[in-house]
Amino acid sequence: MTPTIRPLEEADFEQWLPLWQGYLTFYEAEVTDNVTRETWRRLISSDEQPHGFCAVDPKGKLMGIVHYLFHPVTWSISDRCYLEDLFVDPNVRGGGVGKHLIEAVYAAADKHGADQTYWLTQDHNTRARRLYDHVATLTPFVKYKR
Ligand SMILES: CC(C)(COP(=O)(O)OP(=O)(O)OC[C@H]1O[C@@H](n2cnc3c(N)ncnc32)[C@H](O)[C@@H]1OP(=O)(O)O)[C@@H](O)C(=O)NCCC(=O)NCCS
Repeated sequence: MTPTIRPLEEADFEQWLPLWQGYLTFYEAEVTDNVTRETWRRLISSDEQPHGFCAVDPKGKLMGIVHYLFHPVTWSISDRCYLEDLFVDPNVRGGGVGKHLIEAVYAAADKHGADQTYWLTQDHNTRARRLYDHVATLTPFVKYKR
């Protein structure tokens, strides 16, 4: 089944929320309600980032979400696209929803003129990496933070 992929809309909030919470739980992370509200406000604002897509089944049920943003870089005149969050309802995993969500970000990045789309993942996230190995190229970079 090919899911419908479309931008998140205001009316999606009730369905987006459990997917967002599922994503946070997957990462054993918590954010305050204030952060969730502000993230949602930005996602559906036409002139702010990040942007978001959802995958929808024929009955209008949200099956997955992806959030992404563009930023300038010093190595190109073009912006770069950072894919920040990707989550698919556990009940429909393995059916191509994640792949279609990534491809929607690729299409948005092409439309924007981005020179690259990239993301981070945990090295032990084997399920996600099986998908990523099909749609992207593994780089040797590692993440540092303070
Ligand atoms: C990672 C995640 C988004 C993948 O979503 P999904 O809808 O299951 O992804 P897809 O169905 O498009 O692809 C995954 C499967 O298809 C396979 N696949 C994808 N493209 C393929 C191709 N061209 N040929 C063969 N197999 C392919 C993958 O190997 C993978 O196989 P699996 O069922 O054994 O795991 C989902 O598992 C998830 O939400 N996980 C929890 C949160 C998470 O890890 N998010 C990403 C953090 S970086």
